[in-house]
Amino acid sequence: MSALEYALAAAPPPYDTREYDDLFRISSEDATWMAVSLITNAEREGDGAKRLWSLAACSRHDTEQHLLKTHAVDESRHALYYLRLLDIAFPGITDPAFRVKLQALSPRFGMEQDLFPVEGSPYAKVPTIDDFIQMNIAEIRTTIHHLMQRKALRKHCDDVAFGRIEPLLDALLRDELRHVGYTADLIENFARQMVTGELQKLMTRRISDFNQITHDELGNAVFDCHVECCAKRPWCRQKAQPVLPVSRDVR
Ligand SMILES: [Fe+2]
Ligand SMILES: [Fe+2]
Repeated sequence: MSALEYALAAAPPPYDTREYDDLFRISSEDATWMAVSLITNAEREGDGAKRLWSLAACSRHDTEQHLLKTHAVDESRHALYYLRLLDIAFPGITDPAFRVKLQALSPRFGMEQDLFPVEGSPYAKVPTIDDFIQMNIAEIRTTIHHLMQRKALRKHCDDVAFGRIEPLLDALLRDELRHVGYTADLIENFARQMVTGELQKLMTRRISDFNQITHDELGNAVFDCHVECCAKRPWCRQKAQPVLPVSRDVR
């Protein structure tokens, strides 16, 4: 937790700002945008499942392997959940033939299946603390996105449709929080064998990388972040202001 707090102070992410939430809220008012966003989420969950399946296949520890396999099965199921959200919130928005193809976004992994490294996957390797840090950060952002999606979907659904959607959303949130928790536990275990400061450096680098990825995904959008504005947020319009000395600002 202290490494995460250090990293967040050194490289504040965009996705915890009110302005990021506003960007999502305004974009998501458009039904097509929201539908595409759900499909993109299904694709990401499916890709994530394949990466996790490969990592699990190469893990050398039984507990870690079981956790990774469970995670892969969760993400595999989530890909299908997102498609169900699409069907309920936006019935008929996709071409029927395309909709059938979307089912393939989930690799449909199950706990009863034997693990295998997915062919050609760069994740067919023994998992390291670096992998778990990147997963932890991604899962935190997924959880934040989930909360924004929930509010957006409420606006696109009547009470009956939202009543069908809510249990899926609750299951997604429960799983994502579990993913944040178990990756944090594994990081904690690895960290015991690390030199002080090493984890802070690695965490800061990965938070910073992920900030850049998020910024790229936003199409390099620049917005004002008057709340908690900080010269270390390069996407803030106010960045032209004098940069605070690092020593004053980094805990
Ligand atoms: Fe997920
Ligand atoms: Fe997840």
